Amino acid sequence: MPSPYTVALIGARGYVGRELIRLIEAHPALELVHAASRGLAGRPVAELTPTHQGGLRFVTTDPEAPIDADVVFLALPNGLSEAYVARCRPEALLIDLSTDHRFAPGWVYGFTERDHPALRGARRISNPGCYATAMQCALWPILDHLASRPVCFGVSGYSGAGTRPTPKNDPKRLADNLLPYHPAGHFHEGEVSHHLGQPVRFLPHVAAFFRGIHLTATARLKAPMTLEQVQEIYKSAYAQAPFVRVIDELPEVKNIAHQNHAEVGLHVSSDGLELTAMSTVDNLLKGAASQAIQNLNAALGFDQAEGLR
Ligand SMILES: NC(=O)c1ccc[n+]([C@@H]2O[C@H](COP(=O)([O-])OP(=O)(O)OC[C@H]3O[C@@H](n4cnc5c(N)ncnc54)[C@H](OP(=O)(O)O)[C@@H]3O)[C@@H](O)[C@H]2O)c1
Repeated sequence: MPSPYTVALIGARGYVGRELIRLIEAHPALELVHAASRGLAGRPVAELTPTHQGGLRFVTTDPEAPIDADVVFLALPNGLSEAYVARCRPEALLIDLSTDHRFAPGWVYGFTERDHPALRGARRISNPGCYATAMQCALWPILDHLASRPVCFGVSGYSGAGTRPTPKNDPKRLADNLLPYHPAGHFHEGEVSHHLGQPVRFLPHVAAFFRGIHLTATARLKAPMTLEQVQEIYKSAYAQAPFVRVIDELPEVKNIAHQNHAEVGLHVSSDGLELTAMSTVDNLLKGAASQAIQNLNAALGFDQAEGLR
C-alpha cells in the first residue's frame, strides 16, 4: 500500500467519528478522502471538526459503490457494518469500532497492549468496546493471581450512548442522577470474559458527565500480596505501553478526559487478599478512536504512538 494511505470514515458524524476525523488528520501517514454521514451530506467537514484544514465535505456512501480507500474505519451503530465490509477492497485495512466483529473469525481483536503481535499485518481489526477496554486495562496483568471472578462496577459519561437520543444520554434524566442499566449480560461482560479467558461480572452505569469511564474491579487473590507487589506486576505488564499509566493514586475521570491514555490505580486489603483495580479511560479516545489509531499503527508497522503524541 502507498503512503499516505487514503482513509474512508463511515459514521463520521458520530461522537467517535468526530474524534477519528481529528486523529486521522493528525497522523502523518493518513489522508482522509471520504467522510460518510447521511445527516450532514454536502456540508463541509470543517463545520463539525474545526481542525479540518482541507475542503472535504461529508458524503452519503452509495450503497452499491465500492469503497475506494486503503484504510476504512467503520464507526456505525451496531449491526450495520457487514454491507460496508463487503464493498471494501480485500487488501484494505478495516477497523470496525462497533460490536459486530468482536467474536468474528478472521478478525483480530485489538486490545493493543496485549494483542500487538497479532495485529501486525492484520487487515480486519475489531476495536474493543469502551468499558471492555477499561476492564481489560484493570484486569489483564493480574489474571494469573485471581482466586475469584472479578466484579466490575463501571460508570460512563453519556457520550457512551452516542448521538441518537435515548434515556442514557438524556440530560434531564441524568441530572443529579446515576442510571444503572443491564446489570447482567451486558455485551461487554461477554466480550471481556471471552477475550480475557476469565469470566467477569459487569455492572454498568451512566452519569451526567459527557466523556470518560470510571471502572472499579474487585476480586480475591490466590495468596496474600502487598500493594507494592501488585503495582510491580502492573508496571511490568505496561512497561512498553505508552497509553496505559499505572499511577500511585486512585484514578479520576477528569484526568483522562481528552487524553489518549488510560490510568490504572490499585488497592490491596489489609490481609493482602482482596484486590481493587480501578481504571479510567476517555470512552471516545482510548475506549474507541485513539485505540483504533494504535491498532492501525500496529497493523501497518508504525510506532504505536504515531499520530497520537
Ligand atoms: N460512544 C462511545 O463511547 C463508543 C465507544 C466505543 C465504541 N463505540 C461504538 O462506535 C460506534 C459509533 O458510536 P458513536 O457513539 O459515535 O455513535 P453515534 O454518535 O450514534 O454515531 C453513529 C454514526 O453512524 C451514522 N449512522 C447512523 N445510522 C446509520 C445508518 N443506518 N446507515 C449509515 N450510517 C448511519 C451516523 O451518521 P448519519 O446518521 O449522519 O449517517 C453517525 O455518524 C458504535 O458502534 C458504538 O457502539 C462507541
